[in-house]
Amino acid sequence: MTTSSSSSSSSSQLAAAALLVSVACFIAATSNYHVEAADPPLVQGMSWSFYTSTCPKLESIVKTRLQEVFKKDIGQAAGLLRLHFHDCFVQGCDGSVLLTGSAGGPSEEQGAPPNLSLRQEAFRIIEDLRARVHKECGRVVSCSDILAVAARDSVALSGGPSYKVPLGRRDGLTLATRAATLANLPPPTSTTGQLLTALAPKNLDPTDVVALSGGHTIGISHCSSFTRRLYPAQDATMDQTFAGNLKAACPQAATVDGTVNMDIRSPNVFDNKFYVDLMNRQGLFTSDQDLYTDSRTRGIVTGFAVNQSLFYEKFAVAMAKMGQLGVLTGSQGEIRGNCSRRSTGVESVLESAVEEAVEILAGF
Ligand code: HEM
Ligand SMILES: *[C@@H]1O[C@H](CO)[C@@H](O)[C@H](O)[C@H]1NC(C)=O
Ligand SMILES: *[C@@H]1O[C@H](CO)[C@@H](O)[C@H](O)[C@H]1NC(C)=O
Ligand SMILES: *[C@@H]1O[C@H](CO)[C@@H](O)[C@H](O)[C@H]1NC(C)=O
Repeated sequence: MTTSSSSSSSSSQLAAAALLVSVACFIAATSNYHVEAADPPLVQGMSWSFYTSTCPKLESIVKTRLQEVFKKDIGQAAGLLRLHFHDCFVQGCDGSVLLTGSAGGPSEEQGAPPNLSLRQEAFRIIEDLRARVHKECGRVVSCSDILAVAARDSVALSGGPSYKVPLGRRDGLTLATRAATLANLPPPTSTTGQLLTALAPKNLDPTDVVALSGGHTIGISHCSSFTRRLYPAQDATMDQTFAGNLKAACPQAATVDGTVNMDIRSPNVFDNKFYVDLMNRQGLFTSDQDLYTDSRTRGIVTGFAVNQSLFYEKFAVAMAKMGQLGVLTGSQGEIRGNCSRRSTGVESVLESAVEEAVEILAGF
């Protein structure tokens, strides 16, 4: 696809945005996307109707509760979506990110740097949902499935698409190590090349990578995740006005790590504005902004920026793929009775000994 690179450095940001979007419309009208509306493939052991007979109310219980939670604080939707992503990328979608370490402190997965403050409230919301679901159906639904459904509803209740979630995951028995966490969660300093290379082994193609990055259309980031793009020298790809606002929100001398919204146009709405941000050089992370610079992904960004339905469709496909990474099914793993601790083999008297064993199992 041929693209124009008439990037904005003019005085009026709005005019520049309008110009870029009209350029983008022309590009999209001449491009040729293969759109798959069919259900994405299922991994062996997963099903679209896994709990139809054992817990038919699962999805309504989760949705009803999250509606109440989000009415008070829509920011929790972003926290839940990110938690599902972290769960799936490290050791597969097995609920390992939910396990606390020994003595109830953070596990190595929870304590590794990329966690960059996963919202503690998200962990509590999942455990609360588990209790409600198990009260209705008994201990038949896994924590990892509850997290996958909660992530979908976080998207849908923020104004995004409602898509079908493959179910049948079992919860893992092992904690993820710090090394595995670091190796599997790419840093925000990644270039598109690094991102594509890191995600290809997970069977995620460039369209999936661009679509999944669209998760950044909701939620917040800490200053420390991007200030190296501001200081000591400003990243030349960043829009001037945007950079100035970020510097004001994140002063170099700050002693407290502040936060900013990731999508400046509509921070709490799951829409395609994140891609419009990128076209205007207002992406927060290198890993996001470079998707518009790199010729392999630029056309995909543009396509999503001008066609929200296309983004929604590709996001649903990519989430189904991500949501089935390394899943345990059938008789593997277990159904946890408490999302923060494994149930199998845990006797209250022997708890601390077993927790030590779990840590040994985790790969030492
Ligand atoms: C592909 C590589 C990715 C990188 C490098 C990345 C990086 C980051 C970083 C650095 C933050 C800010 C953390 C902070 O400073 O507090 C963040 C937040 C977030 N990420 Fe990603 N991310 C990636 C993929 C994803 C995916 C696949 C999703 C979901 C589909 C996602 C959803 C989110 C959400 C919703 C937030 C906001 C969390 C909140 O408000 O609590 N990210 N990400
Ligand atoms: C994530 O890391 C921060 C800072 O290192 C730490 O304070 C926090 O407890 C960690 N989060 C979890 C869930 O352990
Ligand atoms: C936008 O994408 C949808 C979903 O793939 C497609 O059906 C529609 O034709 C596209 N619209 C335009 C204007 O290209
Ligand atoms: C689940 O386990 C945590 C400790 O890991 C504990 O604080 C919490 O009360 C437990 N929840 C229930 C419902 O037993």
